[in-house]
Amino acid sequence: MLKGRSLIDPRDFSVEELEEVFELAEKIIKSPEDFSKMCSGKILATLFYEPSTRTRLSFESAMLRLGGNVIGFSEASSSSVSKGETIADTVRTVSCYADVIAMRHPLEGSAKIASLYSHIPVINAGDGGHQHPTQTLTDLLTIRTLKKGLSNHVIGLCGDLKYGRTVHSLIKAMSRYNNNKFILISPEELSIPKYIKREVLEKNNIPYEEVRTLEEAMDKVDIIYMTRIQRERFDNKEEYERLKNSYILDNKKMSIAKEDAIVMHPLPRVNEIAYEVDDDNRACYFKQAKFGMYVRMALIAKVLGVI
Ligand code: CP
Repeated sequence: MLKGRSLIDPRDFSVEELEEVFELAEKIIKSPEDFSKMCSGKILATLFYEPSTRTRLSFESAMLRLGGNVIGFSEASSSSVSKGETIADTVRTVSCYADVIAMRHPLEGSAKIASLYSHIPVINAGDGGHQHPTQTLTDLLTIRTLKKGLSNHVIGLCGDLKYGRTVHSLIKAMSRYNNNKFILISPEELSIPKYIKREVLEKNNIPYEEVRTLEEAMDKVDIIYMTRIQRERFDNKEEYERLKNSYILDNKKMSIAKEDAIVMHPLPRVNEIAYEVDDDNRACYFKQAKFGMYVRMALIAKVLGVI
């Protein structure tokens, strides 16, 4: 039963509950007009304290396509946070005006705090370098659809594995399905955090290897998941400049990838996928962005209990 539930960590929903969301998303994709009034009279509040294009707009588009309405802010400076209001008071107030909240905030753990004070479901739209569970739903629906299921994949994760919250959430999520293996491709300085290695991969006996170049992984992966180096999380700007172009996926590297591999990226991209790759039919990142809207439609409908 997902009605009234918050989504803070990708593992807040069981595998069976996620399946419910994906099955509904599939129905919406097949016949969106059947769902166009489903959230009539309901309001989504988008509280974005950090910049966003895809997450905020896909949430808003999702609610509008379900026949609901949207309120919110896209930067902290236009809300009373700029006068010193706490997250707790903001969400208690917004609970009086809306039926569901999607919140992005730079502080890790902020979405959890919001859910403790809110009277309506809170969906974590990204909390600092921690988690981004609706990007994970997006990624899982993309893989489930384009790679025919969520098991038996070799997944290459490349780029900023230290600060990239989408990667942390995706590893947690894909570790729950059978026979997946990870190849972690990053500079040593941007390696996956130790707690993910210990608490998620090693604890669950999930095979993984760490490599430093894309070339070492390209012919082995079924899914190559590129990420940008997260400039905003660096304290030392010189370190960012040194690492920012560590990986660039181009047609030459794609020439050694499997015929049926797919390239994913949560976007925004900076320089890590050359524009020439966009014409390769294995490049799926814009399809992925569209799956994000459909899966958020399904998620909103489920937590509101309208289906
Ligand atoms: N993938 C993602 O979270 O993109 P935005 O930062 O544009 O929302």
